[in-house]
Amino acid sequence: MVSVLYKADPDRGRTWSSIFSARAPDIEFHIWPETGDLARVEYLIAWEPPPDLVASLPNLKVLFSSGAGVDHLDLSAIPADVPIVRMVEPGIVDGMIEYATLSVLALHRNLVDYIGQQAAARWLPIKVVPAAARRVGVMGLGVLGQAVMNRLGPFGFSLSGWSRSPKHIPGVACHAGAETLDAFLGQCDILICLLPLTDDTRNILNQRSLARLPRGAALINVGRGAHLEQQALLDALDSGQLSAAILDVCVPEPLPAAHPFWHHPRILMTPHIASMTQPETAALIVLDNIVRHRNGQALLGAIDRHRGY
Ligand SMILES: NC(=O)c1ccc[n+]([C@@H]2O[C@H](COP(=O)([O-])OP(=O)(O)OC[C@H]3O[C@@H](n4cnc5c(N)ncnc54)[C@H](OP(=O)(O)O)[C@@H]3O)[C@@H](O)[C@H]2O)c1
Repeated sequence: MVSVLYKADPDRGRTWSSIFSARAPDIEFHIWPETGDLARVEYLIAWEPPPDLVASLPNLKVLFSSGAGVDHLDLSAIPADVPIVRMVEPGIVDGMIEYATLSVLALHRNLVDYIGQQAAARWLPIKVVPAAARRVGVMGLGVLGQAVMNRLGPFGFSLSGWSRSPKHIPGVACHAGAETLDAFLGQCDILICLLPLTDDTRNILNQRSLARLPRGAALINVGRGAHLEQQALLDALDSGQLSAAILDVCVPEPLPAAHPFWHHPRILMTPHIASMTQPETAALIVLDNIVRHRNGQALLGAIDRHRGY
């Protein structure tokens, strides 16, 4: 019998477990710390598994990240022959579409200004900019970046995107590679970061790159907190180079109570909730991948360890 070990949020784990037992009664599903026989575990579904856990699974075949990224994993602690699969499932995609759309529309329609004006009991209409005149750029044109672009298109925004390899997306001005970053940034009134965190993208939102944005641009960071140099953001907001930021991710998480982001009048923060793995849909995707693996087919969402995503 195939044995699966789940080590992530235990409440959601119970939903995973019931879906597995309904759909695949031949698979043993264990929720950490109940592990069954460790020597028999072939599939690990985990968020931040301790290195000694991986080392204690001699028969491990695949490691499934329970989240969209893999930056929380110590890849060096995972045997080279064990594929690592990130979570690509409809629940995460839908959540990110909602959050990115909410944030773009909030910035486009000056919500940060109106929150401040309400606090000051000030009635002061701001001229509405047509969507076609608002340039929205997405860093990262992967599963999530492209889904967000697709949904923003019908609003009429002027869209551009940036990725590592060239893309052709109807209605989106696509840029690829580090040498095109400045040109891309120069045309983003609203910049969304949807990159994975890798050695190449850490601190990519820094003093230099923020200075390349048009004056008064706004930032949405839904990638990872470590994409952003925090002091660079504060300086850019204070100088007027940036007008506002919506941050779903930060370093550390949770952010300490004394951190200047909490009370900055031009920053809106949420506690890393832009999108979450939904057990109802994610369990089916992992089950499908287990079947694929057992049939010798390619795993959907397998990462390239060399690229780091
Ligand atoms: N805040 C939240 O709640 C939340 C939820 C889910 C995910 N996320 C974040 O969103 C990230 C993206 O997820 P995804 O599923 O869209 O990932 P993905 O499908 O792997 O796409 C990543 C995109 O980033 C691009 N990229 C990577 N490194 C780059 C570099 N050095 N220069 C330029 N472009 C680069 C890739 O370019 P290529 O296409 O050329 O490979 C690709 O287009 C996740 O890694 C995670 O950090 C956050």
